Amino acid sequence: MNPIVIKEDKCIGCALCVNDCPSSYLYIEDGKAHTNTGSCLECGHCYAICPQGAVVMTNYDCPEEAAVPMTELPSDTLLAAMRSRRSIRQFTDQTVEQEKIQKILEAGRYSPTGGNSQNVSYIILGSKQKEAEALCVDLFRKGTSLPSRFASFSERFKITDDFFFKGAPLVILVTSKSDVNAGLASSYMEIMAESLGLGVLYSGFFVACTRFSRKLRRLIRIPKGHKVITCMVIGYPAVKYHRIVPRKPLQSITL
Ligand SMILES: Cc1cc2nc3c(=O)[nH]c(=O)nc-3n(C[C@H](O)[C@H](O)[C@H](O)COP(=O)(O)O)c2cc1C
Repeated sequence: MNPIVIKEDKCIGCALCVNDCPSSYLYIEDGKAHTNTGSCLECGHCYAICPQGAVVMTNYDCPEEAAVPMTELPSDTLLAAMRSRRSIRQFTDQTVEQEKIQKILEAGRYSPTGGNSQNVSYIILGSKQKEAEALCVDLFRKGTSLPSRFASFSERFKITDDFFFKGAPLVILVTSKSDVNAGLASSYMEIMAESLGLGVLYSGFFVACTRFSRKLRRLIRIPKGHKVITCMVIGYPAVKYHRIVPRKPLQSITL
């Protein structure tokens, strides 16, 4: 079925959809928008830009929700909050409410993906969190099946029982074929989590374990063709930071 259907009775032929379509899928004829036979990204720009509500996307539930521009967020506050964000390694016992988890996942779902592939998935470790962490602890303590750069960690760090997840109540793995797509989704999710009063730690060590342990991969059920790109350890922070940390000077050139 054609992914885009134009309701002729509503279309006024303004061409806003045609001009904004990234894949030249639309054209105007006889004062109405029509669809080509080429490929459609299903990005939804035509749906979002149409002032008449004349576009239907047949493969999706079409939300009637009004768009909210990011300008609604005060940029100075946003920047200050971004600079104040810290990796959290100490969490309280408080569980993360289901509505907050849904908001975090929704932020990931709406992050941009190359070619609108929407090829990012999310695994909440839930009932397998303890078992997954125990497997990783075992792996790091033994060190033998790890490449040398990771094997040295077992000497450099004390591998406690909570080394990977720090006692946090929620762990979300972000998986994809694309490092960039999953990275962007994670960043959206992190900002959402922070705005909900939660703290986040990226556990790169856990991601490393997913590369080396088949047993772990079987346990966490990664979608076919995907890799675990980030492991987001989430919970209520048990620490508060009073000031912004120093950073290296900005490296930026204008050519
Ligand atoms: C991809 C990625 C992986 C990370 N992995 C770990 C990790 O396994 N364990 C850890 O304690 N911190 C980890 N971190 C946190 C970094 O050490 C931290 O971001 C950095 O020290 C800067 O501190 P800040 O995030 O508080 O600004 C990771 C961060 C990123 C972005």
